[in-house]
Amino acid sequence: MEELLKNPHRSDDPVPFASTREPLELHRKLPGYAPTPLRESPALAARLGVARVLVKVESDRLGLPAFKMLGASWATYRALVARLGGEPQWSTIDELRVAVAPLRPLRLAAATDGNHGRAVARMAKLLELDATIFVPDDMTAARIAAIKSEGATVVLVDGTYDDAVAQSAAMQSDDCVVISDTSWPGYEDTPRHVIEGYATIFAEIDDQLAGQSTVSVVMLPAGVGALAASGVAAYAHHVPRPKLVSVEPADAACVLASVRDGHMVEVPGPHRSMMVGLNCGNASLIAFPVLLAGLDWCVTVHDGRAEQAMRLLAADGIEAGETGAAALAGALGVIELGGRDLVGLTDDATVLLLVTEGATDPESYEQIVGHAPGAPDVTKA
Ligand SMILES: Cc1ncc(COP(=O)(O)O)c(C=O)c1O
Repeated sequence: MEELLKNPHRSDDPVPFASTREPLELHRKLPGYAPTPLRESPALAARLGVARVLVKVESDRLGLPAFKMLGASWATYRALVARLGGEPQWSTIDELRVAVAPLRPLRLAAATDGNHGRAVARMAKLLELDATIFVPDDMTAARIAAIKSEGATVVLVDGTYDDAVAQSAAMQSDDCVVISDTSWPGYEDTPRHVIEGYATIFAEIDDQLAGQSTVSVVMLPAGVGALAASGVAAYAHHVPRPKLVSVEPADAACVLASVRDGHMVEVPGPHRSMMVGLNCGNASLIAFPVLLAGLDWCVTVHDGRAEQAMRLLAADGIEAGETGAAALAGALGVIELGGRDLVGLTDDATVLLLVTEGATDPESYEQIVGHAPGAPDVTKA
């Protein structure tokens, strides 16, 4: 069931997470760095009935089709620096590879529903480290192949994403670093760095918008809530502060359930949404207090709305995968649920949508949108 919830615990106290531009300095030194586009979409603005829609398109981020490399790279870097006992001097990836060589043999391990694991595997490949990625056993062949293409070992876990997280956690050892994007008691540093790493998205948006009108509503897709927490931290100091809205699949809405109750609530699987990056039963322990203090609204959407959002984005020339379309699906859901005025999707609003991935499952993309990724959209004419 789709649902819109006003956060009863929203606070004006300082948000318990400081956003930093430090990761941006790392990202600038990685191969292929460029700010991702911030697209203006008059067509989507007309569709939503708002003044402006800005779409931050993460379909090509550091050579991968999702934003996740931002968190995986910064968190891996911080973990390796901790193992080295100090920050090395380097300015190119080749120099960094040499600097971390004394740590070998070393393995990076992670659980994933697709994008984070591929990003960790890419980081391992760049640094000539090994990688083992744990995935739920219902992951599509295309996503598994994408992780394997980075040279990682993929382990299929009998169960959900949350079961994969539990298995990956047990890998931590002298010769294995777990790079998880979610956190649990006693494991908080790396996932904190993941949240910090995502700040590059918001730093770029600030730079791209310099001198233009301010954003009034931000739609934040939420799986474990790390990206949304990064958004909350980034916008905490904006004046006026935009309304911040989390978006989740209807049957994996652990952020909404936890925000409603004021404490972490597990939403047991199986989670079957096609928005696979959001199929999480537990919010991240360190993201949750940030979300509780800073989210204004939580909305849940069903898969049909994600499909509709993918087609609307495609018609405007933006290739978004199922999870990537969630932010627009959320905005459509808010309107459908009668929340237009409450949330502020009004005719004077500037709405920011994070399209967090491209067509990460090309076959599924073609089935939903009607043409293959990369092909022109005939409905545009
Ligand atoms: C494409 C995409 N968007 C959004 C998210 C949600 O991020 P988080 O788990 O930090 O809430 C994910 C997570 O895997 C993802 O892959």
